[in-house]
Amino acid sequence: MASVEELCLSKLTIDAVEILVEKGITSIPEKFIRPPEERFTSPTPSEDVEEQVPVIDLQGLNCCEGSIEREKVLKQLAYACENWGFFQIVNHGIPESLMEAMMNVGKAFFALSVEEKQAYAALPGLIMQGYGSKYIAREGATRDWRDYIYLLLQPHSIRDYDYWPSDPSDFREVVHNYSEEALKLAKRLMGAFSLNLGLPQNYLETFIVQPYQNMLINYYPPCPEPELTAGFYAHSDIGMATLLLQETGSKALQIRKNDKWVPVVAASGALLVNVADQVEIISNGRYKSIEHRVVADKEKPRISIPVFCDAAPHAIIKPAPELLESRKNDEAAKVEEMKENPNYSTIVFKNHEIAFYTDGANSKKYVQSYMVQA
Ligand code: OGA
Ligand code: NI
Repeated sequence: MASVEELCLSKLTIDAVEILVEKGITSIPEKFIRPPEERFTSPTPSEDVEEQVPVIDLQGLNCCEGSIEREKVLKQLAYACENWGFFQIVNHGIPESLMEAMMNVGKAFFALSVEEKQAYAALPGLIMQGYGSKYIAREGATRDWRDYIYLLLQPHSIRDYDYWPSDPSDFREVVHNYSEEALKLAKRLMGAFSLNLGLPQNYLETFIVQPYQNMLINYYPPCPEPELTAGFYAHSDIGMATLLLQETGSKALQIRKNDKWVPVVAASGALLVNVADQVEIISNGRYKSIEHRVVADKEKPRISIPVFCDAAPHAIIKPAPELLESRKNDEAAKVEEMKENPNYSTIVFKNHEIAFYTDGANSKKYVQSYMVQA
């Protein structure tokens, strides 16, 4: 006989967008419709090469300290972080076969029937692991045209394997392996960011207390009226950095650059990286966490798999004191007593995370609220 918990769980149903598509609706329900000022007007993809997100080959980062190859990659990363907040990386160390396997298990999970996926339905509440569709808790928040499964991955102690699908049969193994590789890569990137900010290589890693890693597998079903809604409304990511896996050639993700929305064209074998809110704060605004959004598509479903590489929920996030000190090696800052003021107040990461999931995706508004008025 089923236990009480099993009976409760079996009653959990998520309000999947996919069900609407299966029903063959031709107009979308009210709760997905954005007011006119929030709708996406289609951007004209820029012909200008300057306007494409940089693609960086990380190979040279493995070269020895001080080598020309390594310095070149560090410079490219610094440029991308300062000017874009987004970049694609190739030769990043995650084997292409593992990326492919990760995408395949994501697709295989979403190919299950909604009833089968419901077995992993997230419990109601904030920041819950599992299969879901509505991630903003606020009553009446406009819904995104997106279903997902959300999993906590690192440290291992936060994993709840009840929410890890056993179908496809290699789901757990692939997600585990991908998580380990993504953690290694995130640490290398944090090392490079630290050096580029003029800090010791392990600075950001130490600052964050311990890595807190989670994953979304986003499923964007085709949408009969894409112009009225959003796949994922404009937001900035809340943690340290995000590594996003998507299919080569996808153009659904757009980033805000100089008040224009620039589509990112997914390069072959690449992962898309973006600086997130914690790095913006710790770097005292030298690196900005850039807003991005996903357009809904009339014809094609899309899967994207971001891994969020964040600081522990209890981490205290504030501008790095070392960056505020007068920089002795910086010619321009040689003037005695020239200290930088903190541009952000101190926050506990957990509160930022709760605010994001309580009220809405536009996390930039929270970061702005932490800014210290000059
Ligand atoms: C996210 C996100 C982009 C995408 O999950 O935070 O921005 O392409 N996803 O799905
Ligand atoms: Ni995002």
